[in-house]
Amino acid sequence: MDDESDRVEDVEARLLLEGIEQVYGYDFRDYADASIRRRLAHWLAESPFDTLSQAQSSLLRDSKIFLSLLSGLTVNVTEMFRDPPFFKALREQVVPFLKTYPFVKIWHAGCATGEEAYSMAILLNEEGMAGRYRMYATDIDEAVLATAAEGVVPLAEMQKFTRNYQNSGGTASFADYYTARYGRALLAADLKKSIVFAPHNLTADGEFGEMNLVLCRNVMIYFKPSLKERCLKLFDASLVPGGFLCLGMKESLERRAIGASYQELLPTLRIYRKRYA
Ligand SMILES: C[S@@+](CC[C@H](N)C(=O)[O-])C[C@H]1O[C@@H](n2cnc3c(N)ncnc32)[C@H](O)[C@@H]1O
Repeated sequence: MDDESDRVEDVEARLLLEGIEQVYGYDFRDYADASIRRRLAHWLAESPFDTLSQAQSSLLRDSKIFLSLLSGLTVNVTEMFRDPPFFKALREQVVPFLKTYPFVKIWHAGCATGEEAYSMAILLNEEGMAGRYRMYATDIDEAVLATAAEGVVPLAEMQKFTRNYQNSGGTASFADYYTARYGRALLAADLKKSIVFAPHNLTADGEFGEMNLVLCRNVMIYFKPSLKERCLKLFDASLVPGGFLCLGMKESLERRAIGASYQELLPTLRIYRKRYA
């Protein structure tokens, strides 16, 4: 691609993201440029349009066409007990603190299809906290939230998820947590009893009050620094003193404005604890 067409594509992308924000209220302007450009190009290649300018009018006037783009702009990859050492550390070093409260509130920001929240429910139930927690699992993408609320995961992934569960210190048989149905694994209904799945947009929406634990893993890697700062402020405002903040393996509080207010409990696993003062 020559410089000139690269420049024009940049302008087209910026105009489109501006239009999407104005029409639908989804603000992708502070997502990392390279990643968003790649996703737009991928969507365009699968669409009947040759350029983003050509696609713009349909995208802004037809919400169904926009929804096809929306699901392409968000990356929904997830797994159960993703990063097993992280879940092991949660179980061994964070849950003992959570157990000291009669009831705890947990926020999974950017929960995708829900595997992270279901993993947490399994872990907390095994640690004797059933009935003593409420989880808010949120995402910008309502299509993934619908899947999350159903509690189904791909059956083909279950071997990997079983391994992850075992490596994260799981104490039961993972097979007890799901039933195979038509190529899908239906998670045990009691796991979702204490989970509320709800839409929440990190670029625009407000905090969740009085959280003891906030997880936002593998979401902010797609954001520009300014949007990362916004999110971290939001999590900070949501957490009680002594609450825990968990980020993805490629994210950290290093050089972040709120960093000084957090103790690096397990920095290599991205587990931080909000200081009391
Ligand atoms: C890669 S998934 C991470 C899922 C899970 N946290 C994990 O680590 O496995 C990223 C999720 O962030 C969501 N997301 C992207 N932008 C968002 C925003 N502005 N507000 C809320 N969620 C967002 C996407 O829809 C996607 O489901």
